[in-house]
Amino acid sequence: MTHPCDTLRAVVWQDDQLQLLDQRKLPFEQTMIAFDNASDVTKAIKDMVVRGAPAIGITAAYGVVLAAKKAYAQNPQNWTLLIETEMQQLLHARPTAINLVWALKRMRACFSGLTGDPVPALLAEAQRIQQEDVEANYRMGELGAALLPSFCRILTHCNAGALATGGYGTALGVIRNAFTAGKIMQVYADETRPWLQGARLTAWELRQDKIPVTVIVDSAAAALMRQRLVQWIIVGADRIAANGDVANKIGTYNLAVLARQHGVKFMVVAPTSTLDMNLTDGNKIIIEERGADEVITMAGQQIAPHGVAVWNPAFDVTPAELIDILVTEKGVLEKPTTASISAMMNR
Ligand code: MRU
Repeated sequence: MTHPCDTLRAVVWQDDQLQLLDQRKLPFEQTMIAFDNASDVTKAIKDMVVRGAPAIGITAAYGVVLAAKKAYAQNPQNWTLLIETEMQQLLHARPTAINLVWALKRMRACFSGLTGDPVPALLAEAQRIQQEDVEANYRMGELGAALLPSFCRILTHCNAGALATGGYGTALGVIRNAFTAGKIMQVYADETRPWLQGARLTAWELRQDKIPVTVIVDSAAAALMRQRLVQWIIVGADRIAANGDVANKIGTYNLAVLARQHGVKFMVVAPTSTLDMNLTDGNKIIIEERGADEVITMAGQQIAPHGVAVWNPAFDVTPAELIDILVTEKGVLEKPTTASISAMMNR
């Protein structure tokens, strides 16, 4: 951890096991859970022990290490066949974040040429995926922060921080870098209904680093912008289509529409592992729908009539035309388009 404000790792390989910080318990309890098999890792991704697009990709990569370890001990000749079911389970743990698909593809490419015990090479690849993600975040932090003015006030949504990545964060990486440069006056964090990633996780992360943070309810964002209390909105992404349409936590699209109305700049920060060049536009992104309980209960307490119908999409798609700046580790794009994204990816 070489950067100021880089102190937190939610995904850790230690003692031949995968350790995950249980994000369901934050901010009040900091509990690490140890995993020694891939099926439990899949369940942890589904249950949101770990969440955030890059973090679930990295977690799945370590899941492959655990699957390979078990399968190689059982059958050194046919271990690749034995891990196929677990690979598929990991792949389908959550549908929207492309980082999961991307990381598993890298692990598959790594093991396709292996002979002998696959574990050392697979572990090295999973650790490389995590380290590259952290380094991409450092780079995006520098690039994004350079665009911000002094005395900047920022609104962020969900949690795109160290908890959601290999470490340091995407949107929060930009905020961390800008804070270190003395540019941040105030960060506002949307509470991010229904799972409260903003109130529980972003507020906790920023307070650890003494970055001034104020939590708002999601529906206060328009009033915040109208009162000119923010100049920039900075968010992460779960999947970006080839034309620059961005899937991110539900409510991100609302913010982009409001930002345009109020002359607030809208920045998306995501590593190129979040770009899905196979999708021409965001209409084709699969949006995860989660259970009704997340909406109609709060802290275990029912808050709406029993049996009421609920629609709970976990993500929405912001059209590229509402995005002022896209930051990846490969550079900054103003008003991203199919052509500029393709040129960046081919650099
Ligand atoms: O449902 P979650 O908490 O996994 O959703 C996370 C987000 O929407 C993040 O903004 C996104 O994954 C980017 S994290 C760097």
